[in-house]
Amino acid sequence: MILVTGGSGYIGSQFVRTYCKQKPQEKVLVVDNLVEGHPEALEGLSNVVLERLDIDDYDGLKRLFSMHEIRAVVHFAAFCYVGESQEDPGKYYQNNVAGSISLFRAMEDCGVRKLVFSSSCATYGTPINVPIDESHPQNPINVYGLTKHLVEQIIKGYADTRGWSYAALRYFNASGADRSGVFGESHDPETHIIPLALQVAAGKLDQLQIFGDDYDTPDGTCIRDYIHVEDLADAHIRALNKLEIQEGGIAINLGTTFGASVKEVVDICQEVSGRKVKHVFCPRRPGDPARLVADATKAYEYLGWKPKHDLRSIIQTAWTWETNKRY
Ligand SMILES: NC(=O)c1ccc[n+]([C@@H]2O[C@H](COP(=O)([O-])OP(=O)(O)OC[C@H]3O[C@@H](n4cnc5c(N)ncnc54)[C@H](O)[C@@H]3O)[C@@H](O)[C@H]2O)c1
Repeated sequence: MILVTGGSGYIGSQFVRTYCKQKPQEKVLVVDNLVEGHPEALEGLSNVVLERLDIDDYDGLKRLFSMHEIRAVVHFAAFCYVGESQEDPGKYYQNNVAGSISLFRAMEDCGVRKLVFSSSCATYGTPINVPIDESHPQNPINVYGLTKHLVEQIIKGYADTRGWSYAALRYFNASGADRSGVFGESHDPETHIIPLALQVAAGKLDQLQIFGDDYDTPDGTCIRDYIHVEDLADAHIRALNKLEIQEGGIAINLGTTFGASVKEVVDICQEVSGRKVKHVFCPRRPGDPARLVADATKAYEYLGWKPKHDLRSIIQTAWTWETNKRY
């Protein structure tokens, strides 16, 4: 059995559904406090048990680890709003860092020493060179990125002293929805550009704000690396499989290596939806680099992983979800 924290959230639930499809004989224990998660995202999965629990609850976690034979943990649970992390750093240190420490103490005390961790390209900060590979210095420029960097360091400490095996997966911009059209992204508030642009197309929002059109990029808008949530799920399963047979720790970027500008995203959203995405240009936001694009060579070499979805497919699946959203 594996334990998945944050498994009813956007990326975590995609991982759980994919894992159950690929390994129908395996059981999954999801730990989620449902602050952001949606139980509907795990509907119909007979080998999944959802425990409503906060990862800060060390005794509750220890009880679960002693009740079940857990081989490995996949740790998605975290708060993920960069803006909020700047306004309320303590909330992020408490949930993302202290919560992770509580989880890791319970794991160590119960002899569970294999971990896949949701890290982020936000740990790199402003890039010195692009595409960014894993040896790029990690100098986060916001509290959210700092919490992810701190947790990576804490995990490394467990690996060095207690022999843990881990993969810290640094995602770039997670996006898209399950191909079924029945599961997808649902954040409140939503801050990601693709769902926001599609909400404008669907008439749920008046206009999209685009922050900065004077960057040093071909069309002046920021370039980001959008990676489909199904591709992320696939990479997690590969990382888990590796941990079963190989010891040690590794950090791996998960991105496509292809960047797209905000204007390109808006254009494809208009083409796919057949509707206008009304937008307005606003001043740059502090701390938004012009380009964030992954060098994903290591993911290919170590995990044999290559993304299957391109930006159009990301936007097509997200549009199907946006127009049929159930939660
Ligand atoms: N979405 C992205 O583009 C992106 C990029 C890089 C990294 N990440 C990381 O991926 C992970 C998943 O992101 P997401 O977009 O699916 O977010 P999400 O908010 O949809 O999912 C997070 C889940 O964790 C749960 N959770 C939060 N704090 C908890 C706690 N203390 N105890 C138990 N459960 C808790 C929430 O209820 C939610 O179900 C996060 O760690 C995030 O930092 C996301």
